[in-house]
Amino acid sequence: MNVQAFIALFLISIFTTPTSAHFFPNMSSLPPNLIPNTTAGAWASFVKLLGCHTGQQVDGIAKLKQYFQYFGYINNSTNFTDDFDNVLESALRTYQRNFNLNTTGVLDGPTLKKLISPRCGNADIINGTSSMNSGKSPSASSIHLHTVSHFSFFAGKPRWPERKTDLTYAFSPENQLSDSAKSVFSRAFERWSEVTPLTFTETASFSAADIRIGFFSGDHGDGEPFDGPLGTLAHAFSPPSGRFHLDGDENWVVDANLINSPSLVSAVDLESVAVHEIGHLLGLGHSSVEESIMYPTITAGQRKVELANDDVEGIHVLYGSNPNFNGTSSSTPAERDTNGAHFVGPLMDLSLLLVFGFVLMFF
Ligand SMILES: *[C@@H]1O[C@H](CO)[C@@H](O)[C@H](O)[C@H]1NC(C)=O
Ligand SMILES: *[C@@H]1O[C@H](CO)[C@@H](O)[C@H](O)[C@H]1NC(C)=O
Ligand SMILES: *[C@@H]1O[C@H](CO)[C@@H](O)[C@H](O)[C@H]1NC(C)=O
Ligand SMILES: *[C@@H]1O[C@H](CO)[C@@H](O)[C@H](O)[C@H]1NC(C)=O
Ligand SMILES: *[C@@H]1O[C@H](CO)[C@@H](O)[C@H](O)[C@H]1NC(C)=O
Ligand SMILES: *[C@@H]1O[C@H](CO)[C@@H](O)[C@H](O)[C@H]1NC(C)=O
Ligand SMILES: *[C@@H]1O[C@H](CO)[C@@H](O)[C@H](O)[C@H]1NC(C)=O
Ligand SMILES: *[C@@H]1O[C@H](CO)[C@@H](O)[C@H](O)[C@H]1NC(C)=O
Ligand SMILES: [Zn+2]
Ligand SMILES: [Zn+2]
Repeated sequence: MNVQAFIALFLISIFTTPTSAHFFPNMSSLPPNLIPNTTAGAWASFVKLLGCHTGQQVDGIAKLKQYFQYFGYINNSTNFTDDFDNVLESALRTYQRNFNLNTTGVLDGPTLKKLISPRCGNADIINGTSSMNSGKSPSASSIHLHTVSHFSFFAGKPRWPERKTDLTYAFSPENQLSDSAKSVFSRAFERWSEVTPLTFTETASFSAADIRIGFFSGDHGDGEPFDGPLGTLAHAFSPPSGRFHLDGDENWVVDANLINSPSLVSAVDLESVAVHEIGHLLGLGHSSVEESIMYPTITAGQRKVELANDDVEGIHVLYGSNPNFNGTSSSTPAERDTNGAHFVGPLMDLSLLLVFGFVLMFF
């Protein structure tokens, strides 16, 4: 994650200014010092909470409560304690339901692994209303454990106005993105355009654009600060805000032909994240369907860019289908993702390795 000393030869920086995000053409061009540091990453400290349950008091639980507050699982407080109390257990169970985990109320291995996965910064529960599994009746999700709720919207179902089907987007001039980075966003927009009547056109005027894209580090003025490498990756606002923010401290992979590389790297596929955030910009919330683009987490090194049926059905509710689209994807077979959507591949087990590595070290 700390990418200060990479080999310049392999680096294609998309910025001309010496600031924020790091971009790599593909996975094999990542320098060796991007092998993850098991004690780094925004949420890696949670690993030491493995197995924690109600009644315990452990250093770091207050930080876990802040995490749950950030994503909407716990009401605001300025004074979290390190007590594993009923409020935390309840939040944990809700989280477990949303992510199709066993609702143990205990910080078990699979839950911990999911918790520390990099993810979208948008909350799963907004104003107490969950867009994911836990938004359904408790009986439905506890009796039928395999029932998974589908696509969702923001409260009030905001969407772009009916007559505004041609949306414009612009990049923050301060970021000075390269053409190859810009084309990643163009491809991501195209995936949504393909299945809706919407079109997306780049414009030079940042202030006049419907959708405004920028990379920022840390606090950037909207009350949702970014957190350095991994952790939260990006966030986007519901229509018609158009604000699309990405964490400038991530190691973004621009051309992901080799994204499923077996080496353990802490880089994130830019297009995968862009497709997800555009879903928010158009009005979709998070989904508990693991294959969907609107599922909140992704793994470092994972590529997941194809809309799932769940995403397509959701966006059709808001905008209808593309009258010119006959169901054949325009992407070439080579582009179509066979692995990504199912979270398979060696990179998947990075966080589990962290968990077990820690256990071996201490027991
Ligand atoms: C990955 O990027 C490097 C640096 O640009 C390049 O030399 C290499 O050929 C690329 N590999 C693949 C498989 O595209
Ligand atoms: C790993 O991360 C920790 C915390 O950020 C840091 O103190 C440590 O120096 C890092 N170790 C290496 C080998 O980079
Ligand atoms: C937050 O507070 C409201 C009102 O006090 C309550 O109805 C709701 O259940 C609380 N939510 C959580 C996640 O504790
Ligand atoms: C709760 O915290 C969030 C983020 O910190 C903030 O946006 C929101 O206004 C707060 N809500 C209340 C009721 O304090
Ligand atoms: C914070 O919590 C502690 C322990 O519950 C309590 O003693 C203290 O009064 C609280 N402080 C505030 C400002 O609420
Ligand atoms: C849930 O518990 C069952 C029975 O212990 C186990 O087989 C299964 O793997 C668990 N699922 C998850 C997601 O942890
Ligand atoms: C949350 O609820 C409050 C009060 O009901 C409302 O003013 C606010 O706009 C809501 N926020 C969102 C994001 O829906
Ligand atoms: C669907 O549309 C594509 C591109 O317009 C065209 O090449 C293809 O033949 C069409 N397929 C069918 C079954 O109409
Ligand atoms: Zn999201
Ligand atoms: Zn922001």
